[in-house]
Parts: sequence; structure tokens; C-alpha cells
Amino acid sequence: MSQAERIDGKVFAEGLRGQVAELAASFEQRSGRKAGLAVVLVGDDPASQVYVRNKGKKTIECGMASFEHLLPAETGQDELIALVDNLNADPAVDGILVQLPLPDHLDEQAVVDRISANKDVDGLTPVSTGRLALGLPGLVPCTPLGCVMMLKNRLGSLSGLDAVVIGRSILVGKPMAQLLLKESCTVTIAHSRTKDLPEVVRRADIVIAAVGRAKMVKGDWIKPGATVIDVGINRLPPEPGKEKGKLVGDVDYSEAVEVAGAITPVPGGVGPMTIAVLLRNTIVAAHRNEALDLAEDSI
Ligand code: GUN
Repeated sequence: MSQAERIDGKVFAEGLRGQVAELAASFEQRSGRKAGLAVVLVGDDPASQVYVRNKGKKTIECGMASFEHLLPAETGQDELIALVDNLNADPAVDGILVQLPLPDHLDEQAVVDRISANKDVDGLTPVSTGRLALGLPGLVPCTPLGCVMMLKNRLGSLSGLDAVVIGRSILVGKPMAQLLLKESCTVTIAHSRTKDLPEVVRRADIVIAAVGRAKMVKGDWIKPGATVIDVGINRLPPEPGKEKGKLVGDVDYSEAVEVAGAITPVPGGVGPMTIAVLLRNTIVAAHRNEALDLAEDSI
């Protein structure tokens, strides 16, 4: 059997960022200001610092304004809430993202809940979550939206397909299931307590792996020809003589590529899409905030 098609998230993300850049330019002409994204990082987690720096760079490259708030790890709850309130009230800010996880002494949910729903480009507030569950327009979490975009790009209509989502996180698993349901898939959410997980996954035309366990999904779990989206980013222990371990997904790529019809690699699959969708959500929020019309379904 031939190898699966490799779904290139980098190329896809570049295309999406190109569309966002065009919309950002026309938004600036129509509104007289740039669309703006504020990112808040508390503490000095190195991986989060890299993400935040990347987000800022790509925001500016797309012709939008980037506001970075880098706060020390000991920042208090009241101070953080006050910053979110200021960003909510700032007309130059269309989108607010508070990088997660926050340090343990902070109440993450209370901080996220404080973000105005119309600036919630991460789609994590109760209002955004509720709107997604009700099928109403709103802002949707970036990673699952990026996965659905890649799936539709490859498969066209997803209607009637069997989709198995492995993982039930608020950031990926749950919104992913809602989005696939909206596309008329038959959706199963599997998790750590699911009985006979390999058998459940074998039914799927679409497999979304979002558990955070390196190479957990094996080749013989995959139905021949299925489309596999790997959301996992896991670092293996370093090989002798190397400083850093390899990045791998939740799917055993070398096995799955022999069985699947198409598969996203790690790195270079879902990861690059997430920031591109964040920029997409920001330009969508900006148009809504200025009451400018935009064909949202076309991006
Ligand atoms: N940390 C890792 N992924 C994300 C994300 O999509 N949004 C936020 N806010 N924090 C994250």
C-alpha cells in the first residue's frame, strides 16, 4: 500500500496568513486603524516565551498591531484582572489572549472569564463555549478550528463521516467534537477511561489525537485510508550526546503513515496552523468590533 499524503500545516498556515494580511490592510483602510492583538504572559516558562514571541512577530507581519504584556511570575490575581479590564476597555485591542497555563497561585478560569466575549480570540470564555455548543456565531478555539480547516481542505464535505477525538480538554478535545458535529460527523470523544481504545479508533474515518502522550496511537489502530490529525507535541528524552530530545506527536507517525490516507506530521502539521487561526480570529473580531461586514465563512 502507498504511503499516506502528508498534510503540510506550514504551507496551509502561510496561505491563511496571506488572506489575513489582505483583510488587515482593507480593515485599516475602512476603519482608519490597525486591528490589534494583545497577548499576556505571566512568568518565564521558556516554551510559552517562544510561543508569545512568535505570535507577536506573525501579528506584525500580517499588518496588525501587537501588544505584549510580559508579567513576572509573582503577579497577583487582582493585578492580572485589572490588566484584562484595561485591555477590554482599550479600543485599539480587538483580541486578548492570556497564555496558559498560568502559575499555580492564579485562578485561571477567573482570569479567562474576565475577557470580553467580543475580544475572546482564544474562544475559551463561557460565553464563547456556550455559543459554540448552541451553534451560534462566535469565536472558536484556534487549534480545533485549524484542524477542521485542514480536514475540509482535504476531504471536502465531512458529512456522515465517523470521527474519533482522543482527549477531552477544554482547549482542544471538547471544542473539536462540537466543530465536527457542526460538520455533521458522527463524533466519539474517547479519553483515558475509554474501554478498548484501539477498537474505537479503528472505526474512524477521521482520527484527532489530542492526549499529550508520545506515539500512543499505533499504526494498527488506524482504519486504512483514514485521515489522521495529530495535535500532540511531546518532547522525547534527549539521545546520548544531544541537548534536546526530538519533538513527536501523539501518533506513531512511522507506523500510521503506512496505513492512513493522510496524516499531519509533528512538527509542521497542526502547530503552525494554531497561530494563523489566532490571527484569523483577531481580524474577524476586529471587523465585528467596528461593525464592518466580512464574509467570515470564506476564511
Ligand atoms: N497554551 C497552549 N496553547 C494555548 C492556546 O491555544 N491558548 C492559550 N491561551 N494558551 C495556550
